[in-house]
Amino acid sequence: MTLVITSACVDVKDGICTTSCPVDCIYEGGRMYYIHPTECIECGMCESICPVDAIRYADEVEEGERAFVALNDAAFRDADGQLLEPGGWKKGRPPVADPPALAVLSPAIHA
Ligand code: F3S
Repeated sequence: MTLVITSACVDVKDGICTTSCPVDCIYEGGRMYYIHPTECIECGMCESICPVDAIRYADEVEEGERAFVALNDAAFRDADGQLLEPGGWKKGRPPVADPPALAVLSPAIHA
């Protein structure tokens, strides 16, 4: 079961989780970071390092946060719904686009 990033990351983007990932599957987005659903090897190294406790195994996400499981996946889909496999995030790489659903789930804090 892959890990996912939830709402506590939105507009925080601490980024320290990326330093713990052995396969660089945590990607920067515009308002939050996302974990790639197939590049993640489910090691759990990132889960405890997040200062705002935003990371969960997908099957342990709280009820009110369940939409973020699909949101992490959606961040890596093209317009046809095909899963993109960027091959690993590196600092300085352009951020992935936030899925439109993020604006509905988490209205801008810093509007
Ligand atoms: Fe976000 Fe926490 Fe990583 S705030 S960027 S999930 S360290």
